[in-house]
Amino acid sequence: MGRLDGKVALITGAGDGIGRAAALLFAREGARVGVLDIVEERAARTVRQIEREGGSAVAVVADVSAPAHGARAVDRVVGAFGGLHVLYNNAGTWAPGDGAVTELTLDAWERTLRVNLTGTMLMCRAGIPALIDSGGGSIINTSSPVAYRPEPVCDAYTASKGGVSALTRSIAQYYARHGVRANILIPGPMVTGMTRDALADPGYRDASIRMTALGRLGELEEVASVALFLASDDSRFVTGSEQWVDGGWMLGPTQDPIPPA
Ligand SMILES: NC(=O)c1ccc[n+]([C@@H]2O[C@H](COP(=O)([O-])OP(=O)(O)OC[C@H]3O[C@@H](n4cnc5c(N)ncnc54)[C@H](O)[C@@H]3O)[C@@H](O)[C@H]2O)c1
Repeated sequence: MGRLDGKVALITGAGDGIGRAAALLFAREGARVGVLDIVEERAARTVRQIEREGGSAVAVVADVSAPAHGARAVDRVVGAFGGLHVLYNNAGTWAPGDGAVTELTLDAWERTLRVNLTGTMLMCRAGIPALIDSGGGSIINTSSPVAYRPEPVCDAYTASKGGVSALTRSIAQYYARHGVRANILIPGPMVTGMTRDALADPGYRDASIRMTALGRLGELEEVASVALFLASDDSRFVTGSEQWVDGGWMLGPTQDPIPPA
């Protein structure tokens, strides 16, 4: 008996990183999964892996920031599997050229806002009617610790994720009456395609590790398991919440105790 038996999930950015780990876990727990990615080969690779393990999935090639793509993606998943119960907005970007406002490029600002914030809004706009038609469901939107404690300085990314958090709370409040829950998932630092180059720098890697109370980077599966909780009926009384999977990043770096006087 899987924790997502009978459910249909659509996961954006599921061709790599955290989204791919979640797609594999959701399928193992019985969900039929729409694997959305902007890169066709990545989506296809995740679908192949799910099918090799005996699960059901369909690849959806789409750009979450393109206004027409969301509705097409939702139609494809509902057409394949007959409904939609979970919308996990995971796709995101950390664009080159991001930084402090006096230094970032306008191109990085616009691209980041378009993918991370507008993309999340567009996917919610496309997915919510299908969630309601399916008797209600769960939205999981991906924010970041930097939206709450801005280190390192990447103001476009920070602003985009702050917007995602605020938008998610508003969606949670308004659509609760339709049986739609919406929660904010906040992963801490971990090695993925997005962060591999930055974390290859020993100084940045050490600083990132020092920022977590648990003293290490996270694993993709550690985020996927919390996404599974939010997707499943185990969280049926949870909406508008922030689910931190950050190893204690928000607690701040560990300091030595003050010696007794
Ligand atoms: N890795 C981290 O340390 C970390 C920390 C905090 C938050 N996050 C967030 O977690 C989420 C997943 O990040 P990740 O690290 O797994 O990234 P990743 O780069 O490994 O994977 C992202 C996937 O999204 C796809 N994608 C990118 N833009 C897209 C678009 N416009 N439309 C559709 N698909 C698109 C990519 O092709 C890729 O397969 C992001 O929202 C990211 O901001 C990551």
